[in-house]
Amino acid sequence: MGRETERLVFALNGERYDISGWDPSMTLLEFIRTQTRFRGPKLGCGEGGCGACVVLLSRYDPIKDQVTDFSASSCLTLLGSINHCSVTTTEGLGNTKDGYHAIQQRIAGFHASQCGFCTPGMCMSLFSSLVNADKDTTRPVPPSGFSKITAFEAERAISGNLCRCTGYRPLVDACKSFASDVDLEDLGLNTFWQRGDKGERATKLPNYSIGGMCTFPEFLKSEIKLSVNISNGNRPQTIENGWFRPNSIKEYYELVELNSFNPNNVKIVAGNTSSGIYKDQDLYDRFIDLRGIPELSMIRRNSDGVEIGSAVTISKAIEVLREGKAPTLVFNKIADHMNKVASSFVRNIASVGGNLILAQRGRFESDICTILLAASSIVCIQVGSKRSTYSLEEFLEMPPCDHRSLLLSIFIPSWASSSNVLFETYRAAPRPWGNAVSYTNCAFLAKTSTDQETGDVTLEIVQLAFGAYGTEHAIRVRKLEEFLKGKIVTGPILLEATRLLKEIIVPTDGTAHAKYRVSLAIGFMFKFLSPLAKSLAQPRKCMPTEYNNVKSYMDSVDSHNIPISSRQDIVFNSEFRPVGEPIKKSGAELQASGEAVYVDDIPAPKDCLYGAFIYSSKPLAHVKGITFKPSLASKKVATVISAKDIPKGGQNVGAGWIFGSEPLFADSLAEWAGQPLGLVIAETQRFANMAAKQAVVEYAMDNLEPPILSIEDAIERKSFVEIPAFLYPKQVGNISTGMAEADHTIQSAEVKLGSQYHFYMEPVTALAIPDEDNCITVYASSQWPEGTQSAIAKCLGIPFHNVRVITRRLGGGFGGKAFRSLPVFVSCALAAYKLRRPVRIYLDRQTDMIMVGGRHPTKAYYSVGFKSDGKITALHLDLRINAGIAGDVGPLFPRAIIGAMNKYNWGNLSFDLKVCKTNNTSKSAMRAPGDVQGSFIAEAIIEHVASVLSLPTNAVRRRNFHDHESLRVFFGESAGEASTYTLPSLFDRLALTPSYEDRVKMIKNFNSVSKWRKRGISCVPITYEVSTRPTPGRVSVLNDGSIVVEVGGGIEMGQGLWTKAIQMTAFCLNSEGVVG
Ligand SMILES: Cc1cc2nc3c(=O)[nH]c(=O)nc-3n(C[C@H](O)[C@H](O)[C@H](O)COP(=O)(O)OP(=O)(O)OC[C@H]3O[C@@H](n4cnc5c(N)ncnc54)[C@H](O)[C@@H]3O)c2cc1C
Ligand code: FES
Ligand code: FES
Repeated sequence: MGRETERLVFALNGERYDISGWDPSMTLLEFIRTQTRFRGPKLGCGEGGCGACVVLLSRYDPIKDQVTDFSASSCLTLLGSINHCSVTTTEGLGNTKDGYHAIQQRIAGFHASQCGFCTPGMCMSLFSSLVNADKDTTRPVPPSGFSKITAFEAERAISGNLCRCTGYRPLVDACKSFASDVDLEDLGLNTFWQRGDKGERATKLPNYSIGGMCTFPEFLKSEIKLSVNISNGNRPQTIENGWFRPNSIKEYYELVELNSFNPNNVKIVAGNTSSGIYKDQDLYDRFIDLRGIPELSMIRRNSDGVEIGSAVTISKAIEVLREGKAPTLVFNKIADHMNKVASSFVRNIASVGGNLILAQRGRFESDICTILLAASSIVCIQVGSKRSTYSLEEFLEMPPCDHRSLLLSIFIPSWASSSNVLFETYRAAPRPWGNAVSYTNCAFLAKTSTDQETGDVTLEIVQLAFGAYGTEHAIRVRKLEEFLKGKIVTGPILLEATRLLKEIIVPTDGTAHAKYRVSLAIGFMFKFLSPLAKSLAQPRKCMPTEYNNVKSYMDSVDSHNIPISSRQDIVFNSEFRPVGEPIKKSGAELQASGEAVYVDDIPAPKDCLYGAFIYSSKPLAHVKGITFKPSLASKKVATVISAKDIPKGGQNVGAGWIFGSEPLFADSLAEWAGQPLGLVIAETQRFANMAAKQAVVEYAMDNLEPPILSIEDAIERKSFVEIPAFLYPKQVGNISTGMAEADHTIQSAEVKLGSQYHFYMEPVTALAIPDEDNCITVYASSQWPEGTQSAIAKCLGIPFHNVRVITRRLGGGFGGKAFRSLPVFVSCALAAYKLRRPVRIYLDRQTDMIMVGGRHPTKAYYSVGFKSDGKITALHLDLRINAGIAGDVGPLFPRAIIGAMNKYNWGNLSFDLKVCKTNNTSKSAMRAPGDVQGSFIAEAIIEHVASVLSLPTNAVRRRNFHDHESLRVFFGESAGEASTYTLPSLFDRLALTPSYEDRVKMIKNFNSVSKWRKRGISCVPITYEVSTRPTPGRVSVLNDGSIVVEVGGGIEMGQGLWTKAIQMTAFCLNSEGVVG
């Protein structure tokens, strides 16, 4: 039987860790962040979906004396699975003390970090790609300072790593700067050289040397060799504190057949990545690690195909399928498709078997299952002592596997001995390069014969598999296959095939985007079969003559294959030098090296407790009580903080501003879904999060009206937030006169926008520490420390001056950490105040998205009058804004939206404005608040007018730009001098540039030959009314000449506030003639 490992031995950034008695459900990320001094890997999502936690994992094979290095999501990797591994975080690459690594320096120098929360993960993904490219001895040795990586690979090195602030251009530039085949001239703005600089650019880049870093320390290699000798070739065993690592299938069954085995408490894992998809609902106290069973990791290849052990990672499977002198079409296509599953840092740990088991148990949108199904793969499973093989199709139809069914291997036929085999796979997902589960995926195999005389193609064998479209599991469409078998592909056959497919592909009730998924399935099948029908494969209309068939032309304009390129020119005015100069952002290297301290990076004080919210799942309900399910996690509840804990003299205030406030906790009535009901307190954040999931809230609906959930409900029930008169925007001219001047009118057309999550990379977090004399210090990831201070003071009933709020930097905010984060900070302070112990809250991603309301959904009905040449003479707008439950900043929005719309001269403008109060989370300011809605509505109107008149949209845009006179009518003093109004000339310059016109031409050509896929291009103007707000700052020159600058009212979220402050200070001191 597998024995429990008494100790875990591994290396972290070259240091030896030897631990025992660890919690087996702890992830590597949690261990690094809470038990070591390293804070580089961040917790962004905890789902393998963002890359903030990426580390380099290295394993050593003592037999081959070989180190394998790969990137891994440390939020999914369980600590128990890294025995004898070496882990490198970004701090291990470089740091302030030992000097920064070239990756960190180049990310900083290419201006590739903003809030910096994603940056450590970016560095590690890039490092992993460089290390692996450089190890490849078949690649040519690059010039000094470069890696063996190609520019194409470098572009994809960080694919899967999300950045919510910076934009990928500078990140990709930093990555590509390591590739020797890149033209450095093409890289964007950086601090290493300036455009037009003479001289060798490569020498200006921070030096990179191949093999410059050891990823696996010698001491660990020696220990591994020694342990191999001792255990005679077997790897060390595990167990004790609940981590079991059976060494054989027999040992596995001995474990699961023990009387003490309880499937509810035991988790069986290979890579544990499924926890990124299906969140654990309770804690486990025992784990069985399948990766200790050698048989599950074997790979066998013969002329018929490849047999892959179920625990083999997806990355390894890709490598195996591409190996060999002539990988078959089927293998190549499967490997290509697998490369789009998740991201490399997930594929490197996720097993093929784990994927198939998820699919077999039902409703997982597996890609791998679909593509292996079409290739007629076979699985080998063991149940108890019985081993059987089944076709994958049979396996999927079996009852869901339980812990007694062990998937041993998967055999994938090569189809090499069959001639004329076609195989293709497809997937459509929100992101084409992966890291997004498919809407629909398919794989098709056909064996064909062609009549030499007529050229007719007959389908001898057809295997069509479809998955993820809203089905229990992937299926083969047998009825359609039978229909097609033996047929010559013609138009009518395709038509009938489409009809049959529509009958079969029926998404289950409640499937999102159901129609879209079905249309994708049909489109993919058509795409596969239509080239086989002679009459349908003819090129249409005008295809450039240099392309001899449609496919080659379409491939030539396939956006996935176009290298990313862009240019940015900064015109620098030296009048206020160095203000405005594009210098390296202060602290950028600190962010890259993981040393920048965010709120959650502050070490937890002694006795720290952790909080997680229980929130309402009903929009309007009486809350009768909260109990906890009997479970392991429930045992972790230390206490629950709620409205009853608000001290005497304090108020139940969670957030608020001049337009009103909202309660911190629902007392007896929950008024919106997502409203905090209580805060579960436990000894660790994971325990608190898990325990909060165990809460059972008893609701009652007696005597309650139905909730107001939409703009329409609010209008019907007249539920509005008042707009103060001074915030009401200005109407222009006379709408009746304007309509009378028009040649055409559009009446009461509708345009609407939904909400949008704030989705900053660092979830809302706080650490509250009670202080002497009834004071409290709160470290808060707040965009608004002042509001945080006042809300905490009001809730606790203490003077403002007793509350100290400290915010050093944020991992993004986008408006969500201004008002909507306040309840988190206040709850944290309340818990710490009540319990007299430090309390920390780090929202999990789901709670963050549910509680922090997002952008205001908006609806507009417009009536517009216009001339035949496109000039708009009048616009009337009925604008409806869904503000959610409280005022927040809602009353500011009509003005902001109308302000953004006023980029065009509407001639005469009138409106009716309503800010709707609904039983939703309060909506708030978010990235370009109001501008997004205003610009979207304005452009919808312009496009509508253009389409009525059949005029080019750009012509209608251009026709409705302001002149300076109308600009003054709409914007008053903010219009500025006539000479500063440059929008029309800028627009003309852009729309008339050869590159824009070329792209328009390319798109027209593409659309003319592409029947199904269409492309477009747009050139959208914006205006922004700038208002300045003087902010005091204090500059102290210390005795050694160093300078301290304190700036009031600004929070560094990565946009470079500190850098600006430094530049301003330098400018001012220089102007004042201060020297030294
Ligand atoms: C961010 C993200 C994106 C993803 N995107 C995609 C995608 O686009 N397409 C896609 O197809 N997949 C996708 N996946 C799913 C991913 O492929 C699976 O999570 C992974 O393959 C599971 O393997 P694992 O080794 O981590 O399994 P684990 O999580 O360890 O196990 C999964 C389940 O299978 C059981 N199990 C594992 N191995 C065996 C075995 N040999 N016998 C019996 N039971 C076993 C375990 O007990 C567990 O219940 C994504 C995953 C993540 C995290
Ligand atoms: S991928 Fe691990 S935190 Fe997002
Ligand atoms: S800089 Fe990438 S998320 Fe902020």
